[in-house]
Amino acid sequence: MAARDPHRFSNKLDDGARDRLLDRLESRARDAVFSKLFDNYVARTGLARASKILEVGCGTGAMLRRLARDHQFSGTALGIDHCDEFIAAARRLSEEEGFTNKLRFQVGDAHGLNFVAGEFDAVIAHTILSHVTEPTQVLQEMARVLEVGGTLIVFDGDYASLTYAFPDHGFGQRMDAALAHATYNNPRIMRDLPRLLATHGLKLVAAWGDAVVEIGSASYFRSLAETYAPYVKSSGLLSGKAVDVWLTEQHQAMENGSFFAACNYYTFHIQRV
Ligand SMILES: C[S@@+](CC[C@H](N)C(=O)[O-])C[C@H]1O[C@@H](n2cnc3c(N)ncnc32)[C@H](O)[C@@H]1O
Repeated sequence: MAARDPHRFSNKLDDGARDRLLDRLESRARDAVFSKLFDNYVARTGLARASKILEVGCGTGAMLRRLARDHQFSGTALGIDHCDEFIAAARRLSEEEGFTNKLRFQVGDAHGLNFVAGEFDAVIAHTILSHVTEPTQVLQEMARVLEVGGTLIVFDGDYASLTYAFPDHGFGQRMDAALAHATYNNPRIMRDLPRLLATHGLKLVAAWGDAVVEIGSASYFRSLAETYAPYVKSSGLLSGKAVDVWLTEQHQAMENGSFFAACNYYTFHIQRV
């Protein structure tokens, strides 16, 4: 199977591969470093005061549950994702936490949103634009379903900056690039975003960046390496044996306290004009 970007094809993966992505989404949402970035943009943009939110590519609904649980969100939110099983998990987990009155989830494709123009006062794209087939079409759709003056939050990694330490610097660089290429259809989309906004009737309100860094120990980057290194192997970008050596080195570094990995993440606070 072509291994390029598992999330782009999450609706076509076998059960085992899909369940591993599902576990990563839930473990990532519990990660203190990563979830702090979500809390920060909710606070800075006043997102919790929106009355009707759409999350495009919601996965297991972890971000919307966090919004409902930790941010006094009093409106309603709808999450859509093209993977049936993620939506089933999102409904189950939301019900377990008692959010069925606030949060709803349905299957849908980000490239053709099944909503009328101006239906939402806020739209969230949390680590989805880097994965979709046609990011400009998704941007167009998100702009269409937003009311004039409404808020669009695009949060994503700049995966061209993703890096893990490795003693052989040349191979380390090739592995960083292969990891970005095998995992993200649009690893540089956040660099393109500023010039794409105006053509879709969108205006930048504010944007900022955060480096996610783990030195010594690893949790966020442990799960990233373990989940996505197998896709580098199956993509054929690098030899399977070399990828195994790289992963073994990462595990040793985690155990002996010499681990280092980093990636830049950006938040764009955008308004529909
Ligand atoms: C990295 S996950 C992010 C999930 C969620 N936003 C979160 O942060 O927990 C990317 C999500 O985009 C979804 N996705 C990818 N392409 C999509 C498309 N064309 N339409 C809808 N969802 C899509 C995947 O199924 C996956 O759930």
